[in-house]
Amino acid sequence: MDTEKKVIFSGIQPSGDLTLGNYLGAIKNWVRLQEDYDCYFCVVDLHAITVKQVPKDLRRRTLEVLSIYIAAGINPEKATLFIQSHVPSHSEASWLLTCNSYIGELGRMTQYKDKSKKMGDSINAGLFVYPVLMAADILLYNADLVPVGKDQKQHLELARDIAERFNKAYSPTFTIPEGYIPPAGAKIMDLQDPTKKMSKSTDNPNGCILIMDSPEVIRKKVSRAVTDSIGIVNYTEDQPGVQNLINIICAIKNISPEEVVKSYEGKGYADLKKDAAEIIIAELSPLQEKVKGLLDNKEYLESIYKKGAEKANYISQKTLRKMQKKIGFIPR
Ligand code: TYM
Repeated sequence: MDTEKKVIFSGIQPSGDLTLGNYLGAIKNWVRLQEDYDCYFCVVDLHAITVKQVPKDLRRRTLEVLSIYIAAGINPEKATLFIQSHVPSHSEASWLLTCNSYIGELGRMTQYKDKSKKMGDSINAGLFVYPVLMAADILLYNADLVPVGKDQKQHLELARDIAERFNKAYSPTFTIPEGYIPPAGAKIMDLQDPTKKMSKSTDNPNGCILIMDSPEVIRKKVSRAVTDSIGIVNYTEDQPGVQNLINIICAIKNISPEEVVKSYEGKGYADLKKDAAEIIIAELSPLQEKVKGLLDNKEYLESIYKKGAEKANYISQKTLRKMQKKIGFIPR
């Protein structure tokens, strides 16, 4: 039956502790979409090493990310959950696609430009070719849909360009993937600087709510969220801090900004913050309990990621063999 369904691929890097942005921009939508698609959800550890990692933290986070997928409601009996480094075709396909990518297009990626501004010449080459590995992830499964936050839109467009180029240079090989960017949680902003996206790699932990933050910490961070001096709860670009809190509420409760604004008529930011914190806590607390339980059951996690890798290996190898054949490699 599954083969008739359209395919979803998405992934998250275990490069830092996951944030509310990762949850609302990605995971929560995967849960919504999983019934209607044949889903592949990957913990992209190969991507994570583009930034220096402490080995034991990388191991811990890889299992934590997998646990978060399951605790959030991804059904491991239906979706394929796996760890990227367990499926060698990702690295192999990535090289084949690298030779079909241009330095110009990779150099135009905003995330790369931002990072290279900070790091200069000592930026590692992995950060440069990183979007090609992401393209390999997606194209190997012939994904139709890729649910991600807004920050990944440019990388996804590149994956489409690379796929079209390969299809044209050889013959139709890859499905051209579409993005799925959620209406409300597409870009959750930093609580301390609402002009910046909330990020795992932030220097200011107060700006970032982690999925595993305790209720006390969440209350503290939200109560200190930067707002403005206007003092009226409105959904406008001129009030980015307030807009961000409204977006968070909308993404969790699946309601519109207008509904939120209406319910705060005559009330102030203190009420909005208090409610936002409790809404976040109510959403994350049950998930956190499940994550803790799953992390105590390493054997179960192992059975999931091994089974996932088996299927992912099978499917991705088929595409990789096609690519190799078309390129002109002698079959093994
Ligand atoms: P990563 O690990 O940075 O983020 C994982 C997912 O979370 C989304 N996201 C956000 N959404 C809303 N607001 C935010 N503040 C926020 N921060 C992050 C991201 O858009 C993403 O969907 N390159 C990818 C990982 C990746 C991938 C893939 C994704 C590798 N291969 C193939 C899709 C398909 C990344 O670094 O995501």
